[in-house]
Amino acid sequence: MARETSTPGWWISFLDVACGGGKQLVAFHRYTGGKAEIVGVDVSRPLLDQAERLNEQMGRPFTLREMDFNAEFPFDEGAFDLVSCCFAIYYAADAAFTLGQMRRVLRPGGKLFTTGPMPDNKRVFYDIIHEATGKPIPPMPGSSRYGSEILSAAKDLFAAVDVQVFDNPLVFEDLAPFLDYTRASLSEDRKLWGGLFSGPDEFEDVMNRISKVAARRLSEAGRLVMTKVVGGFVATK
Ligand SMILES: C[S@@+](CC[C@H](N)C(=O)[O-])C[C@H]1O[C@@H](n2cnc3c(N)ncnc32)[C@H](O)[C@@H]1O
Repeated sequence: MARETSTPGWWISFLDVACGGGKQLVAFHRYTGGKAEIVGVDVSRPLLDQAERLNEQMGRPFTLREMDFNAEFPFDEGAFDLVSCCFAIYYAADAAFTLGQMRRVLRPGGKLFTTGPMPDNKRVFYDIIHEATGKPIPPMPGSSRYGSEILSAAKDLFAAVDVQVFDNPLVFEDLAPFLDYTRASLSEDRKLWGGLFSGPDEFEDVMNRISKVAARRLSEAGRLVMTKVVGGFVATK
């Protein structure tokens, strides 16, 4: 494919793996001012339909296709300058395989950008739940793998990996929004949190205990600070 790499007429090819509803596709399209080939892939048909609606609204700048990142990617070796995978690589059954596919479709010198939660992500949230229930926190799909297994697989496969860590503190001055957040998080993923409660009564009991621990910590410290800790890895082929 013909390619200019110097501004202003530059041209770049970009693959967003697990593009979901298309947030990253839109950001990349805006950033490159339309001078990029942008491909988004995801395993979820409903999320691709959402991305397709955005695509329509924006004049169809993206190519979208259904793809499971646990299987061989349907693209040629070296087809892309950039691959990204935001908040998704840790769902891969075999991260080394999926990262290997990302590497294969990148041109030599091309870059892979991934994001995901680091082990300290939302520490206060988990500490409060642990204190309230006395039970171990189940391994989170992201933070249990991203900064360890996935970083190490990326380092094995790529010539270089640059790690950036971003802290985003969420400050709760009042109990109610913290409890709303907790209730939504625990209900959203009942399968994951199933070891802490079964059925609506136990759920409310757990929420009551969390409320007491959180209220005590809030009155001691004056506020609850829950920091989202996200890692951005830039890997070069
Ligand atoms: C938290 S969302 C992130 C979506 C998007 N990258 C973003 O940052 O907004 C995780 C995405 O991973 C996708 N996903 C999960 N398993 C997948 C698989 N096996 N192959 C491709 N995509 C997958 C989901 O469908 C979902 O779109």
